[in-house]
Amino acid sequence: MPITEITDLSSLLLRMLTQCQPLYSSGKVADYIPALAQVAPQQAAVAVATLDGKIFSAGAAQQNFSLQSISKIFGLVMAMNRLGDGLWQRVNMEPSGQPFNSIVQLEWEKGIPRNPVINAGAILVADVLVSHYSASKTAFLTFLRRLTGEEAIYADQQVYLSELEHGNRNAALAYLMKSFGNIEAGVPQVLEHYFHQCATAINCEQLARSLLFLANRGVQPHTNEQICSRRDAHRVNAILSTSGMYDQSGEFAFKVGLPAKSGVGGAIVAIVPQFGVITAWSPPLNRFGNSVVAMQLIQQLADELGLSLF
Ligand code: DON
Repeated sequence: MPITEITDLSSLLLRMLTQCQPLYSSGKVADYIPALAQVAPQQAAVAVATLDGKIFSAGAAQQNFSLQSISKIFGLVMAMNRLGDGLWQRVNMEPSGQPFNSIVQLEWEKGIPRNPVINAGAILVADVLVSHYSASKTAFLTFLRRLTGEEAIYADQQVYLSELEHGNRNAALAYLMKSFGNIEAGVPQVLEHYFHQCATAINCEQLARSLLFLANRGVQPHTNEQICSRRDAHRVNAILSTSGMYDQSGEFAFKVGLPAKSGVGGAIVAIVPQFGVITAWSPPLNRFGNSVVAMQLIQQLADELGLSLF
């Protein structure tokens, strides 16, 4: 079915959601952050926001989940806007081929993270934000409120504190980068910012709407605001295509063919240039930290609507 002929996607989304539900049991909810281990596994939602202002959804599309690594997209756009090309002296743009929280490559590569969407890269970006904003946590939430057009975006304190308490591996990444001179601010302050942005509570519909600018050359369609340059929208999409699904990015490009980003809260967002944004959410994760049901939903939808870029 060509996407131009779609008037009501909701019934298609509902059918796909129902078909995917047997997959709940093939994944496992993230438990290395204790607050996330308490989330009920058998939940799912999918939403599609289009550039012409429509939203289609099915399942628990207005139920909040933890944004987690998807927050790395927003942090990156803020840091690109503040620092310009200087950012790329401090973080690379290559896929890592390693798990999202891997530490070994960072030492070999002298404290320069492979890309801004693995944990090391996002902590580096958090350092840029802490160093360039007087109140970076508030600035992050303000940015998301502006993009969604909703005030009800906040950081879940329970998730924030849980990660602060159990964030030893991220602390190791941050101190290793600091030892190479690639972190400017104090490590505790950088980690607080990073955990706070990961703890953002959001739902599928809000998330899909918030990222429409990446499908529209940097311009948020409902406000006509230029959120980032056309060149930076291209660059973010390029990084998401090669690295957004971590060491499953190759498989995702092979099967789906869209820039995408996952989070251990169970959400995946996929950008469809010139069309819109798909978000899917379901807590059980595969061994790469990507939601099993959300992957399947996005794959089926992209397949059925012919959305692949390749
Ligand atoms: O730092 C962490 O480990 C988490 N706050 C975020 C990791 C994450 O979402 C990886 N995504 N699949």
